[in-house]
Amino acid sequence: MAPPYVCVTDFEEEAHQILDKKIVDYYRSGAGEEVSLNLNRQAFRRLRIRPRCLRDVSRLDTTCEVLGYKLKWPVGIAPSAMQKMAHNDGEVGNATAAGEMGSIFILSTLSTIPIEEVALKTPDTCKWFQLYVYKDRSLTESLVRRVEKANFKALVLTIDSPVFGQRWTDARNKFSLPTHLELANFQSSASDMRTTSEDGMSAVHEYVSNQFDATLTWKDVEWLVKLTHLPVVAKGVLTAEDAVLAREFGCAGVIVSNHGARHLDSIPASIEALPEVVKAVGNDITVMFDGGIRQGNDIFKALALGAKMVFVGRAALWGLACGGTAGVKEMMRVLKRDLEITMALAGCQTLNDIQRRNVVHECEYAK
Ligand code: FNR
Repeated sequence: MAPPYVCVTDFEEEAHQILDKKIVDYYRSGAGEEVSLNLNRQAFRRLRIRPRCLRDVSRLDTTCEVLGYKLKWPVGIAPSAMQKMAHNDGEVGNATAAGEMGSIFILSTLSTIPIEEVALKTPDTCKWFQLYVYKDRSLTESLVRRVEKANFKALVLTIDSPVFGQRWTDARNKFSLPTHLELANFQSSASDMRTTSEDGMSAVHEYVSNQFDATLTWKDVEWLVKLTHLPVVAKGVLTAEDAVLAREFGCAGVIVSNHGARHLDSIPASIEALPEVVKAVGNDITVMFDGGIRQGNDIFKALALGAKMVFVGRAALWGLACGGTAGVKEMMRVLKRDLEITMALAGCQTLNDIQRRNVVHECEYAK
C-alpha cells in the first residue's frame, strides 16, 4: 500500500498500475458508449451544496440506523462479482474492512469465496447477500437457505439484470474468469464462467444468458418475500413506478442504482433518479443509493436527496487492489474523513441535519 492516498482517484490510479489490463477493464467499464457511466459522475458535479454557517460543528455524528442495524457511518460496500481478481483477500477483505469501519458488506452471488467462508471469517460484520435468480429455482432456494444459515441479515435482489448489458471492452478482451479462480458458491455448471460465446460476447455475458432467469416478474419478488424470513431489498430501481411496486410486493427497501452503468446505456445517473424514488416511497420503505460515489460531497448530496445510506462499488475494488483488507479500510477512512469535512463545512453536525435544501441543481443558480 505505497502512495499517500488522499482521495478515491488515487486508489483507482494505483490499481490500474497493479492489476492486469483485462481486469481493470472489467471493473472500470460501463455499457455501450458509457454515456451513463460518465453521467454517474457528471450528475453529481451539477449539484451544488448550500452550506450553512456558525452552527457548532466541533463534534460530528455520522451514525445512523438502517433496517434495524446501527452503523458508524452511512457508507457500505455494494455487491460486485469476483473480488479475488483484485486481491487474494477478495470478498473476505472487503467484508472485514466494512465491519471494522462499522458498516454493511453486500456479498455478490458471483463471489470468489463461498458464503460460508465469508461468514466464518467475518462474524462481526453486518452482511447482506445479493441474489441473482437462476433458472434452476432449487439452486436459487438453496442459496437463500445457505445465507439464512450463515447469519446474513438481508437479501438484496438485483432486479435490473434479466440479461446483462454489452460492455464492449469485455467483449473485445474476450474477458473470462482467470483459471485459478472460481464462482465459489456453486459446484455444478453454475460455477463455470470461462466459456466465451461464438458471437463474440464475453464469458460473463454467456454465463448470464445460460444461467439467469429472464422470465422474472414482480410475482417472483412476492415468491422470494414468502420464501425467506429475511428482509428483501430490491436493487436497481430507477423509477417511481418500480419503487411503488417494490413496496407493494413486500420489499423492506430499495437501492436506487443503475448497476454502475454496466447494463443499459443512456439510462439516468443513479443520483438523477433518486428524488423521484424518495418522493414515491421514502416515507414507507428504506431508500438507499449507489452509483458514482467517489468523495465525501457525493455522499452528502445523496443523503440530502433522501437516501438513508449509500454503497460504493468500484471504490472498494480499487482499495482492495491497493492493499487487500488494509487497502479497503484506508479507502473508507479517506472517504469518511472527506464526508466529515463536508458536513462540518456545510454546517451539519449529524446526518439528520443534512436536508433537502442543502443541495440544489446548478440550473437554480443560472436563473
Ligand atoms: C457490479 N455490480 C453488481 N451488482 C450486483 O447486483 N451484483 C453483482 O454481482 C455486481 N457485480 C459488479 C461487478 C463490478 C466489477 C462492478 C463495478 C459492479 C454493481 C454494483 O453493485 C453497484 O451497483 C455499482 O458498482 C455502483 O456504482 P460505483 O460505486 O461502482 O460507481
